[in-house]
Amino acid sequence: MSNRYAIILAAGQGTRMKSKLYKVLHPVCGKPMVEHVLEQVKHVNMSEVVTVVGHGAELVQAQLGERSEFVLQAEQLGTAHAVMQAKDRLQNKDGITLVVCGDTPLITAETMSSLIQHHEEQQAKATILTAHQENPAGYGRIIRDEAGLVKRIVEHKDANDEELAVQEVNTGTYCFDNRALFEALDKVNNDNVQGEYYLPDVIEILQSEGETIGAFQTPLGSETLGVNDRVALSQAERLMKARINEQHMRNGVSLIDPENTYISSEAVIGRDTVIYPGTVILGKTTIGEDCIIGPNSEVKDSKIVDRTTVKQSVVHDSDVGSDVNIGPFAHIRPQSAIADEVKIGNFVEIKKANFGKGSKASHLSYIGDAEVGANVNIGCGSITVNYDGKNKHLTTIEDNVFIGCNSNLVAPVTVGKGAYVAAGSTITKNVPGEALSIARARQENKEGYASKLNK
Ligand code: UD1
Ligand code: MG
Repeated sequence: MSNRYAIILAAGQGTRMKSKLYKVLHPVCGKPMVEHVLEQVKHVNMSEVVTVVGHGAELVQAQLGERSEFVLQAEQLGTAHAVMQAKDRLQNKDGITLVVCGDTPLITAETMSSLIQHHEEQQAKATILTAHQENPAGYGRIIRDEAGLVKRIVEHKDANDEELAVQEVNTGTYCFDNRALFEALDKVNNDNVQGEYYLPDVIEILQSEGETIGAFQTPLGSETLGVNDRVALSQAERLMKARINEQHMRNGVSLIDPENTYISSEAVIGRDTVIYPGTVILGKTTIGEDCIIGPNSEVKDSKIVDRTTVKQSVVHDSDVGSDVNIGPFAHIRPQSAIADEVKIGNFVEIKKANFGKGSKASHLSYIGDAEVGANVNIGCGSITVNYDGKNKHLTTIEDNVFIGCNSNLVAPVTVGKGAYVAAGSTITKNVPGEALSIARARQENKEGYASKLNK
């Protein structure tokens, strides 16, 4: 096998996105487009991967890190000019070079490998990955001669009516003989409507020199979607979502309504978990087996173990154990750790709190900055008063504590092991273990007074 090199084009601003964010950093299913491309390139065996950066260079480099080398295209004079920036690094090397655009997030390693295989079989100097597009607007068109051989690629903006009618498009992914590529690049000019150095012009140059040009038309046209604006971005999102969801279903996860289920490309979900509609699973989330998530739940950057239920609830940046019941309408805020068999019921907000095994906050509570032990019962309407207007303070509730309904625990405060707090108490001092603490006004009954008032 000859040496293989990859060049990822990622220097453009992405004017058509109309965005502050550089185009290739726009996420598709939670991951920047260029990251999707690099990951797939990495699955193809490459001796060297070079990413061409320009707009947002530092951000793109930070995103891709050590998995790629980088060359800077200080001014964006076109895709051929972009590839030229890798010249010093690659020009004297024997082998084949795959060029792929950072704005085609759906392209897969399998398709790249098929392209390379076709290129090698045909012993071509250049092979274009082409696709049939019902609506080819915006793409470069593949122009073939009477014998069906590729002559050149014409950009949409430079095409005449006959060329515009062609539905075979350039996907922006190519395979080249490395030396032939850099020799041909020297001959590319910018004599076109956009005044840019077009990489596709390399095809016509090599063809006119009598070299073999290959074209591999992928049957998976949707994989080659190039994202230049927000409309295409939403199409990419939809296609990627379908791909991710299908993968989970094939792995044994039930999605009741995959159209309305949004799972980030980094999420891991165990078998026999059921995801109900309207659920959004974001970031690096891990969900175990036999869980029920949704309907209408959002889980972000969290770990949930097995047999846990999250209904109509939000869980962010937290750890949740097995056999936990969350919701409906609960909010688990960052840095919370919920142990096994816990119940967090309706209208309960948890923030930066640890909940020990088997503890319950079943209704209408706020528990923030708290250490809650095992088998604690937090009654309806109870809250930790964690904020004094300047600082946050810790509430500690030890094992087997019972907090009566509508209690305020004014932090910093500790309720000792096995203690009881009577309903309606405002606790400002530590409660010793096994004690009963009552901190409310005494009740006074005035016999017969109501009927007097009613007269
Ligand atoms: C390009 C192709 C077109 C093809 C389409 C597929 C050219 C001239 N046209 O058009 O034939 O059908 O992709 O999606 O190549 N870039 C740089 N430096 C530059 C210019 C672009 O790094 O100076 C990068 C961009 O960041 C982007 C990629 O190259 O990732 C493609 O550029 P873009 O402007 O999106 O080209 P298209 O108009 O989509
Ligand atoms: Mg593009």
